Amino acid sequence: MIDIFKGSKNFSDIHERYDEFMHNMRFYRVEEIKEIAKLKSTDRVLDIGAGTGYIASKLIDSCHEIHLLDESREMLSHAPDSSKLIKVIGDALNIPYEDNYFDVIILSDVLHHIKDQESLMKECYRVLKPAGRIIVHDFHRKYLKTKLLALFETSLFGKLYYRTIEETTNLIEQGGFNIGEINNKGYYYMILGER
Ligand SMILES: C[S@@+](CC[C@H](N)C(=O)[O-])C[C@H]1O[C@@H](n2cnc3c(N)ncnc32)[C@H](O)[C@@H]1O
Repeated sequence: MIDIFKGSKNFSDIHERYDEFMHNMRFYRVEEIKEIAKLKSTDRVLDIGAGTGYIASKLIDSCHEIHLLDESREMLSHAPDSSKLIKVIGDALNIPYEDNYFDVIILSDVLHHIKDQESLMKECYRVLKPAGRIIVHDFHRKYLKTKLLALFETSLFGKLYYRTIEETTNLIEQGGFNIGEINNKGYYYMILGER
């Protein structure tokens, strides 16, 4: 598997093989995200670091619309065309939306790619409506499987910022959210925060 991404520096270099990798590794967690997010037909969702839009494409029938924010144009180019999927190239640390705009934010497999996670939480808090929900899915840094993934990803992207489930829970709480649910799956986790 490793040589498929040889020479990559960021997601724009690996976009063509990304979905194949994610499916092979069984890293997509659509059903679990659905379960914890409890989407409503009226929800306006922001998928931060949406990548190729695979997860969003599976959630779109459960909500009103999903905005796919990603810094990689190439990754976003794989997302299906739909009036309910709005693709936006931009930075998670400077979310190009007004305050109180979204009902739900999804951060799936993104947190550990972002160094300034406190600023990320501030931005999420800002653009979420009161009582809005944030779902964070990421990998627990103390597990062997995560360490192997980290070795692989570090060889591609350089330094990464994995947390333990407790560290991510604290981050979300310190960002001003109440913790609604914690799903500890061992090497990965899902946490629901409520504004
Ligand atoms: C591992 S992929 C996850 C994609 C998707 N959420 C999934 O679950 O497959 C991480 C994505 O985050 C994006 N990303 C990383 N840092 C970002 C930032 N600061 N702003 C916006 N997107 C970012 C990358 O371009 C990449 O598409």
